[in-house]
Amino acid sequence: MKAGGPGGQRPPGPAEASFSCRAAMLLPLLLTFQGLLLLHAAGTGASQAPRPPGPAAEEPLSFHVLQASSFANHSWAHSQGSGWLGDVQTHGWDTALDTIRFLWPWSRGNFSTQELNNLQSLFRLYFHGFTIEVQAFAHEFQFEYPFELQVLAGCTWRAGKPSGSFFNGAYQGSDFLSFQGNSWQPSPGAGSRAQKVCAVLNRYRDIKEIVLSLLSHTCPRFLAGILEAGKSELGRQVKPEVWLSTGPSPGPGRLLLVCHVSGFHPKPVWVMWMRGDQEQRGTRRGDVLPHADDTWYLRVTLDVAAGQAAGLSCRVKHSSLGGQDIIIHWGGEWAPLTLMCLAVLVTLLLLLVLCSRLKKLSSNGKAVAPGARSPDSAAAASARGPGTSGRQLHVPRESWIKNRLFKKLKASLNPLWQR
Ligand SMILES: *[C@@H]1O[C@H](CO)[C@@H](O)[C@H](O)[C@H]1NC(C)=O
Ligand SMILES: *[C@@H]1O[C@H](CO)[C@@H](O)[C@H](O)[C@H]1NC(C)=O
Repeated sequence: MKAGGPGGQRPPGPAEASFSCRAAMLLPLLLTFQGLLLLHAAGTGASQAPRPPGPAAEEPLSFHVLQASSFANHSWAHSQGSGWLGDVQTHGWDTALDTIRFLWPWSRGNFSTQELNNLQSLFRLYFHGFTIEVQAFAHEFQFEYPFELQVLAGCTWRAGKPSGSFFNGAYQGSDFLSFQGNSWQPSPGAGSRAQKVCAVLNRYRDIKEIVLSLLSHTCPRFLAGILEAGKSELGRQVKPEVWLSTGPSPGPGRLLLVCHVSGFHPKPVWVMWMRGDQEQRGTRRGDVLPHADDTWYLRVTLDVAAGQAAGLSCRVKHSSLGGQDIIIHWGGEWAPLTLMCLAVLVTLLLLLVLCSRLKKLSSNGKAVAPGARSPDSAAAASARGPGTSGRQLHVPRESWIKNRLFKKLKASLNPLWQR
């Protein structure tokens, strides 16, 4: 390993020795990790299988910290960090100021300013050091540019008490290592690279102690305080709005029915395409996406033969609905057509009436006001009813949602530039 190092002294055992030179820097880094690190990274959206929303009290609540770091080459990296109470983002990391952003009045939990400042210093050290260390060891750890590292760390709360903690790391979106008991363990299938990294990390007892302390003391204490402080937000119930549309046709003679569920809180929701009481197995559920006002949006689709759409409905269960499911019936195929025929008929009728009046008028030799038709056509349009207007509405609405999302994403991606 001829790394032509600028440092001059070249200790004997290559990876190991140079690593210990760095230990002093690594320590604070790993410390920072402490309270917050869980690396579930790869599986962020994975748990979205349709399920009825259970009573919130039964689900374990967690406080966790997420870190995502991209390394483009040996001189370019950027990281972002955030803190979450369950599904609600509570903290961000401001890269310009190098400070924690508290996103809610209750995001401080019951920690003192002093304690929060200490944590902030820890994270500051961590974010700076992490990039430097990873860049320095990328070669020895066989990280290949460009690569992505993610950390997910935190603790859980169930039935009124702390129920566990976790610290997971991912490399290129796959599980890489975790902190178990009091040591670093390579994830199954992560290979010799992860074994090597863990073997090195495990030599640093102080770091392990700090991680352990953050995970098993600081985190649960913070979680208890923030749970108490954020109770009203967590318990907030907002009913969804539900509407239907068609998506791009999946093929000749087929329809893609889309059920939009928007603006609900909290996040768990159950949505299914139904025929009577029969759940439609082909129902496809998208990701639950955030609105900027901390409510959620979900679209659920069904690919059906055009003739089979009648009689289908979209059923939504959500904790805000108090057991009264929302059921919207597909009027899709025939309703707009019928309404359109009706509208055409009405217009024809109006034209007939108009013509006969015109005849009368002209036979009376009087002028006709040119705007006379417009109130009638407005009436004809509104006679088409909500079925049509609902379908027209979804297009701008969807792009509006995308816009909002995009803005939010951009804001939260506001990167941590390092170096
Ligand atoms: C490193 O990556 C960044 C971002 O992709 C790029 O702008 C920069 O030119 C790269 N630098 C080198 C030395 O390759
Ligand atoms: C915060 O609240 C938790 C639980 O209610 C409690 O255990 C802790 O002592 C409180 N204070 C601090 C500073 O953590």
